[in-house]
Amino acid sequence: MQAFSIHGGRRLVGTVDVTGSKNSTLSLLSAVLLSKGPIVLRNAPDIVDVRSKAKLLGSLGAQIQWIGTDLHIDCSKIDSSSVDIELAQSIRTSFFLLGPLLARLGKAYLPSPGGCRIGARPVDYHLKGLAALGATIDQENGFYVAKTKDLRGASIYLDKPSPGATQHLMVAAVLAKGITTIQNAAMEPEVVTLADFLNSMGARVSGAGTSMIEIEGVADLSGTTFRAAPDRIQAGTYMMAAAITGGDVTVRGLMPDDQAPIVSKLLEAGAEVTVGFDEIRVQATQRLKAVKIRTMPYPGFPTDLQQPMCALLSIAEGTSIVEETVYESRIGHVRELVRMGADIHQTQLTSIISGVDKLQGAEVEASDLRAGAALVLAGMAAEGNTIIKSIHHIDRGYERLEQTMNSLGASIERIAVSDPTGAWSQATEPF
Ligand code: EPU
Repeated sequence: MQAFSIHGGRRLVGTVDVTGSKNSTLSLLSAVLLSKGPIVLRNAPDIVDVRSKAKLLGSLGAQIQWIGTDLHIDCSKIDSSSVDIELAQSIRTSFFLLGPLLARLGKAYLPSPGGCRIGARPVDYHLKGLAALGATIDQENGFYVAKTKDLRGASIYLDKPSPGATQHLMVAAVLAKGITTIQNAAMEPEVVTLADFLNSMGARVSGAGTSMIEIEGVADLSGTTFRAAPDRIQAGTYMMAAAITGGDVTVRGLMPDDQAPIVSKLLEAGAEVTVGFDEIRVQATQRLKAVKIRTMPYPGFPTDLQQPMCALLSIAEGTSIVEETVYESRIGHVRELVRMGADIHQTQLTSIISGVDKLQGAEVEASDLRAGAALVLAGMAAEGNTIIKSIHHIDRGYERLEQTMNSLGASIERIAVSDPTGAWSQATEPF
């Protein structure tokens, strides 16, 4: 098992580039199944979840090759409607293959999805939407068995603006006969990127980025060359890393509009934030102040940055209140931050954080991806040494996070634990 060993107390200074978006790339890697033409996905992030998704596509008959940061994808010979089970169970977006497989082959066989354990994460909207489009889906021993004669356009209403269900159903509807509407659709930037990607292959999707999306079915799609959008959650993590270490970091290659809630809260907390055309500079010259946060679907404060924000607020002056409204158990970071000296009182999904002067290094465990990011931030700000275990969660979504942070002045080493009693040794590369 690998771990991070962090020597805290160093200011981060410099410039960092954001890689392609995890969640957007994972979504595009479902949509690729719809096309028989060659696809080049530029700027794909080299993270474990993307590699797993690419392997999953391989198990369906796709040819996939990395050339630099470009993924070359050929789905002309998709011949299997069932995937590598273990891989499918390791990531959430394996489930998003159900719709495109139905569109392409008329049948699909998939296990329940995996992903970070941050709540129940039901798939009922997906199932209802696919049924409305004309699929029959049965659940047998933890597997979904889906079939259809023909997908046809339908009016779909989502009880909540779920990014996953919106994107899955958009993809499923692209080759359906007739017009599909998705009401109360998610408005996340990843939805807009997916629409742009589908349209670049000849789909007719409009309204993405609003709460009502319309898809006019087409007979087939061509190939495309498309650049993955920057990862807004990664960008936000770097901005918070600058703030928590009292640093001065310019995060480059992002879309400033996507960062509005983060910029607003960092300013409110007393950081200096300078927004440029495609970059944001964050300087923290004094101790930050407490703020209130409530996670919301886009354009609200993103749930994916709630945990890193808690790390930041654990050393801000005063009492902060952080309310998680999207997931019912995205709180794995709290216990570990408390181990590092944070003063956090948790009532259901609200964290009441009384800022302490300093965090102390400790041995902690990442329970999920963003909890891991929160602990990295905390470790960089803490006095002394922090060991973060279970960093495989972090590798799922951040490309060699320790190297990025070290390039800004952090001191993070990837180490391996050779036995559960805690004897550590030098580790190898993550991938
Ligand atoms: N929901 C349902 N039923 C459904 C689908 C969703 O009730 O059928 C509810 C969920 O319980 C939750 C909300 O809708 O309360 C949002 O969940 P959703 O399924 O839409 O999330 P997701 O698509 O699985 C994506 C990101 C998450 C991010 C959320 C919210 C991917 C691979 N994952 O998840 O990213 O937190 O949207 O923005 O795109 C992360 O990157 O760390 C991460 C967890």
